Parts: sequence; structure tokens; C-alpha cells
Amino acid sequence: MNNELRDVIFSGIVSVRDRLLQLDDPLRLESGEPSFDTPPHIKEAMVKAIHDNHTHYAPSTGIKPLKEACLKKVAGKNGIDYLDGLDKVTVTNGGMHALYCSFRTILNPGDEVIIPQPNWTATAWMVELSGGSLIKVPLKAELQYRWDLNELKAAVTKKTRAILVNSPHNPTGGVMTRSDYFELLKIAEKHDLYIVSDEAYEDIIYETEHISAGAVARDFPAKVRDKVISCFTFSKSYAMTGWRLGYVCCNHQPFADNLKKMILYTINGVSTPTQYGGLAALEGDQSCITEMRDVYRQRRDILFDGIQKTDLLECKTPPGGAFYLYASITDQWKDSAWDLVNHLIDNYSMGSVPGDIFYDDRKSIRFSYACETDMIRRAIANLAGDKKPVV
Ligand SMILES: Cc1ncc(COP(=O)(O)O)c(C=O)c1O
Repeated sequence: MNNELRDVIFSGIVSVRDRLLQLDDPLRLESGEPSFDTPPHIKEAMVKAIHDNHTHYAPSTGIKPLKEACLKKVAGKNGIDYLDGLDKVTVTNGGMHALYCSFRTILNPGDEVIIPQPNWTATAWMVELSGGSLIKVPLKAELQYRWDLNELKAAVTKKTRAILVNSPHNPTGGVMTRSDYFELLKIAEKHDLYIVSDEAYEDIIYETEHISAGAVARDFPAKVRDKVISCFTFSKSYAMTGWRLGYVCCNHQPFADNLKKMILYTINGVSTPTQYGGLAALEGDQSCITEMRDVYRQRRDILFDGIQKTDLLECKTPPGGAFYLYASITDQWKDSAWDLVNHLIDNYSMGSVPGDIFYDDRKSIRFSYACETDMIRRAIANLAGDKKPVV
């Protein structure tokens, strides 16, 4: 057995989920799975692709029309308008695969990657499985879960190779500003670092516009731009989690060439009909994105308002993006987020995720509001009734 894999552990979310699934009618606020189904025009395009016999091997980095559509989308919507050819877009098996292949392409054993704390644990494992070491720099609750960039600057060493950014952020819902990106790119420029930008939640953002690292990098020299690796997915924007479709953009030819080897020797390309579904998603009516976003915003507000009415948790500012709300546990829980998570399962069949899982934050828990609105209303009614001090 491989030693590295032996040391990888399954996320504690699995144990929460396993317990919830044994209950009648659980409230699934632990899960990052959108309640929406994939829009019909996307499904129809995939069915048509099957009937048209797009059932053969395709180029390993993606079919031409999809890569063209991705290039057009990132230029128009994200402002990454300097990619100089189809080679600079690589289609992947979802956002996770985009991130894993990117880290595998840039890292050597011992290289350090700066990563937010808390953060989605899967990315951390991808860095470690690529030989990298994690340098965790805390996000500040008082900055709406953004970095203090002086702290980040101080964390850079000679071994630092990359900085992971994820905005909007899982698990906090934090959103980076244009000036955050600008400062970060100056650090990257000074130390010759990659920026790996995980933009999985680009469309789930409420009061502000999504900003791509690659767009801010436009105003930097080519050698800085070339080290921005932008990872996108169809999973959340188009409710396509089960289809496993994502893409990576980076304007550096050697990166694209090596990434192609990763794709070729792992999956040799994403399922061809799925890629036609992705093409329909990008080329079709985009109103599904705004419709879903409006519902997520409504759910966020219900959850945030409800949390203001309970003594169990505190959350001072509504999250600006993604579909997660990260709340601090109150003193009665004595720094044990797991105790509160268990209390919510035992008493209300309600799921949540302890901050411990997102790197040792024992004082917070994450709720997801990707589930049905009714579940959120029921969860909030439960929390509002729970005002007793717990012994
Ligand atoms: C922060 C973040 N990045 C990337 C992903 C990747 O999603 P997928 O592999 O479904 O595209 C997820 C999924 O939950 C996520 O939360």
C-alpha cells in the first residue's frame, strides 16, 4: 500500500453525514450539494450529443468548441482576456481535478503553499498529495474572513511556491476585494509565486461582483500573469455537481504542456457528451445563474436572521458569497464545536460541520444553505427555540 495515501484521512463531514442519514427527514445543512437540478437545456444538449454519436475519444484537454466557449467566457465575464490560444484552457473532471492537476503540475517535494485557515480540506490534501507543505495563514473574522496581507507577507519563505486563493470562500463565505488581489499579486511578483485561484463559487456572490485574480493580473507584467492559474467548475454555477466538469486557464505554455500530461495520464479527457453539456451551459441562457443566486441570497438572509435569535452561535456579518455561513460558537460550548454539532444532530436532526475540520478551528461551525429553503426555515425554528444554557 502507498504510504502517503495511508496517512490521508477522510473528512469528519463523512461522520456527520453518516449519522444524519440514519435519521428520518434530516435537515441537511452540512452538505455543499445544490438543491437545484441541472437546467433542462443543458441536459438536452448532452442527450443530443449521445444521439449524434459524440461517444468517441476526444482530444484529452477538451473538445474545441468547449475550449473556445471557455476562452470567450473568461475573457468577457472574468476579464482574463490575454490568454493567447486554446492551449491555455484545459478541460478537467470538475473543479477538484482542476486543482489537483494544477498543484501536481507546479509543485516539487518540499515546496510550500500558502493556504487560508480555515479552508476546504480537500484542497489541502491535494497540495500534500502533490508533495507540497501547507502554510496556513488565518482569515480574520473582523475583516469578513479576508487575510491580513501583512501576516501573509510574513509567512513567505524561500520554499514558498504558491498561494491558494478561494473567493468566494468555502467555508466562510468571505470575498476578496480588488485591492486584496492587487497586494497579493505584488507579493507574488516579488517572490516569483504562483497564484492558484479556486473560483468554484464565482457566480454565488451577493452584494459585490466576483473578481478574478487573473483579471487583476492584467495590469502586471507577463511573467506575473503567467503564474496565475484560474480553476473554474460548472458544478455550482449550473448545478452540475454530478457531471464532473471544470477547466483551468493559465497563459504559460510550459504549464499547459505539463498539465496536458497530467490529464492524458489520469483521465485522458472528460466524457465527451458531458463536454457538450458544458458547451450548452456557457452558450445558453444564463438566467439560471441569477435565479439560483436570488434563491441562495434569500436562504442566506433567513439563516443569518435566524442565527441572530439564538444563544448557541454568533455571526455578526452576513457572508458575501458561496452558500456557507460560518458562525462562532458561544462560551457555553467551551471551545468544542463538535459538542454543538452533536447537539444539533441529537436534538434537531440538523447537520452542520465543525470548524475543526477546516484546520483546527474549534470555535466555529459551518452551515450550508445549498439545501431546500424549507429545511433552512425548519432549522432556524429549532435554533430559535434553543435558548437554554447547556450543561
Ligand atoms: C472551495 C471549493 N473548490 C472547488 C470545489 C470543486 O467542486 P467540483 O469538483 O464539484 O467542481 C468545491 C466543491 O465543493 C469547493 O467547495
